[in-house]
Amino acid sequence: MDKKVVYSGIQPSGLLTIGNYIGALSNFTELQEEYNCLYCIVDMHAITVPQEAKDLRKNTLDILSLYLAAGIDPEKSIIYIQSHVPEHVELAWLLNSITSVGQLQRMTQYKDKSQKSKEVLSGLLNYPVLMAADILLYQSSFVPVGEDQRQHIELTRDIAQKFNSRYSETFVVPEIMVPKVGAKIMSLQNPEFKMSKSDPDKNSYILILDSEDDTRKKIKRAVTDSLGEMNYSNEQLGLKNLIDIHSAFSGKTPDEIVNYYRDLGYGAFKEDLGEVVVGGLRPIRQRFEEIRSDKSALEKVYKEGAEKASYLANKTLRKVYKKMGF
Ligand code: ADP
Ligand code: NA
Repeated sequence: MDKKVVYSGIQPSGLLTIGNYIGALSNFTELQEEYNCLYCIVDMHAITVPQEAKDLRKNTLDILSLYLAAGIDPEKSIIYIQSHVPEHVELAWLLNSITSVGQLQRMTQYKDKSQKSKEVLSGLLNYPVLMAADILLYQSSFVPVGEDQRQHIELTRDIAQKFNSRYSETFVVPEIMVPKVGAKIMSLQNPEFKMSKSDPDKNSYILILDSEDDTRKKIKRAVTDSLGEMNYSNEQLGLKNLIDIHSAFSGKTPDEIVNYYRDLGYGAFKEDLGEVVVGGLRPIRQRFEEIRSDKSALEKVYKEGAEKASYLANKTLRKVYKKMGF
């Protein structure tokens, strides 16, 4: 029997945080063994907020290099750049014809981002339709993403079901795959909000490519509470988030971590957490520079990836066109 398809993508909008790593990227490598995986750099998504051309180009190769540094193997998985496979945009347009504006306006990410922008771009509203196209184009069964993407996956399922019932069985209806711990890593300074690279406060996030010193410093400065008691509780969100980060990197359960540090206190916990994160990211940080500097090797990866992806995308797209009467 054919292996099931796993699909995920990351936007090339600045460097990735440990939130992106724990919620998404760190899970990509294990899945390669069991599934047919496609990992995309979704540059067409990035332009739903204004981008400088030279930054977009640089960030795209940065994310590709991070994928490789994290251990995604182009022999096992298809790694490619979204804009190289125009079928994504074609399918998105077709799916727009069965997607209601009201449903898109209800997406919380749209509401958040549109409130923050001076001019709300129609691409920002349509973003989840392109995301649905990304996933459905490859008949994906599972989508490993962070908790913040749940609503978009629900929408993707709705769109797939709507198309299937109107035009006959065409798309696999995909399922979200979130990690048990760390599906939503929070800001280190304001733990009611998710960790995000677009946060103006640099102490609120750790980048995968931050220096080891900055990593340790940011963890030391992370907001906890005045209770001074080790618990894994929604009453102590800052601490809970740090325990999640520890757990994601060390593989220990939150309970084990709480028990171990109960008498040692926050200071010792943060000290060790710094080392756990630094140690966990070290192999990626070490591999990144070398991978990033070899332009021709990167080109080979994304060209071959686009060829393989195009072949699969076309199979679905031809069917869709035909069913819709083109
Ligand atoms: P961002 O949300 O940082 O702008 P993306 O939308 O490209 O970046 O997200 C890439 C992946 O990282 C998605 O699967 C998303 O769910 C996940 N992700 C983003 N932020 C977090 C977070 N704070 N905790 C866990 N996962 C996250
Ligand atoms: Na996101």
